[in-house]
Amino acid sequence: MERIILDVDLAMGAPGSDIDDGFALALALADPEITLDLVTTVNGNTDVASATALTLELLHRLGQPDVPVHRGAQVPLVRPQARFGSIPDDVEIRQPHPTAAAVAMVQHVLAHPGEITLVAVGPLTNVALAMRLDPRFAPSLKGLVIMGGVFNEHTNNAAMPGEFNIWSDPEAAHIVLTSGVVARWVGLDVTLKVRVTKSEALEMERSDRPFVSFAGKYTAAWIDHLNDGKPEPDESCAMHDPLAVAAVAHPELITWRQAYVQVETGDRLRGVMVADYLTGDFAPDGQRLIRTANATVAVAVDAPAFNQLFLGKMKEL
Ligand code: BDR
Ligand code: CA
Repeated sequence: MERIILDVDLAMGAPGSDIDDGFALALALADPEITLDLVTTVNGNTDVASATALTLELLHRLGQPDVPVHRGAQVPLVRPQARFGSIPDDVEIRQPHPTAAAVAMVQHVLAHPGEITLVAVGPLTNVALAMRLDPRFAPSLKGLVIMGGVFNEHTNNAAMPGEFNIWSDPEAAHIVLTSGVVARWVGLDVTLKVRVTKSEALEMERSDRPFVSFAGKYTAAWIDHLNDGKPEPDESCAMHDPLAVAAVAHPELITWRQAYVQVETGDRLRGVMVADYLTGDFAPDGQRLIRTANATVAVAVDAPAFNQLFLGKMKEL
C-alpha cells in the first residue's frame, strides 16, 4: 500500500479548464494500492483559491469529503502568477484545513518518516517551500513523483519553452533538483502519449454514475476548448497528471532512465530541463564530466496498459 500526499493545481469543474488534475485525484482514490492521506493545492492551471474550492468540491462529488485539503502557495517563488481562474456560481465555498500546504507536508512526512510518497502535479512551489522549511523533510520522504518537464523532445513553443509546471516556477524546480531527492519525473513528451478521446469522454458523460458523467462532460468541453480555431482538430486530450499517480503503484507502465537533470532559470529558455543520461559525456577539453544521477526520468509509456487501468478505475467511481 502506498500512502501519498497529492499536490494539485486542480481546475476540473471550471468551464474550459484543464481536467487532468481532477482525474489524478480520482485515480488516487480509485486505486486500491494507494491511500490518499492529504491533498494540497497550488497556483498553476488556475489561482490557488479556485484550485482549493474546486478540489474540495470534487472530493464531495467523489464521496470523500474527509480527505484533508491544505491550501498552498498563491504565487510562484519568484515569478508572477501564470493563470487566473474562477469558481463557478454553483460551487459551494468550503474551508480548507487551516494549516498551510508546505507546513502540512512537513508535519505529515516527519510524523511518518520513510512512509509517504509526495505526488506533485502542478508547479513545484509548495514542494520547494517544504524543502526550505525543514531540512529533514526531503530525506524523510519515501518517494517523490512529479508531472513536469520535457526531457526527450521540446515544447516547440518559444513563449513557453519549458513544460508548463516547470516554466511556471523554475526556481522551485531547481530547489527540488538540488534537494538530494532522486524524484521520478514524468515529463510532457511521455504524458502526451496517454490520451482520452472525445468519444470516450462522451461515453463517460452518458454514465449514470454522477462523477463519471460530470468528468466526461468537462473532458469533452476541454477537448472542444483545445480545438477552438484549430484547422486540424485533434479529438482527444492528454492525461498528464493521472500518469504520475499511476506511476506510484504501477511503475512498470513506464520505462525509466537515470539522469543528471538541470533546469534553466533564465528568461529566454525559462523552465527548459536538460537530462544527461550519463552515457559518457566529455567536456571540450577532454576531461570526463563527473556527474551522478539526481533524477529518474520517464522515457516511454505503455499507453494501452495505462488506458486500461485508468478507464477501468474511472468507470468504477
Ligand atoms: C501540466 O500542466 C497542466 O496544464 C496540467 O495539469 C499538467 O500538470 C502539463 O504540462
Ligand atoms: Ca496539473
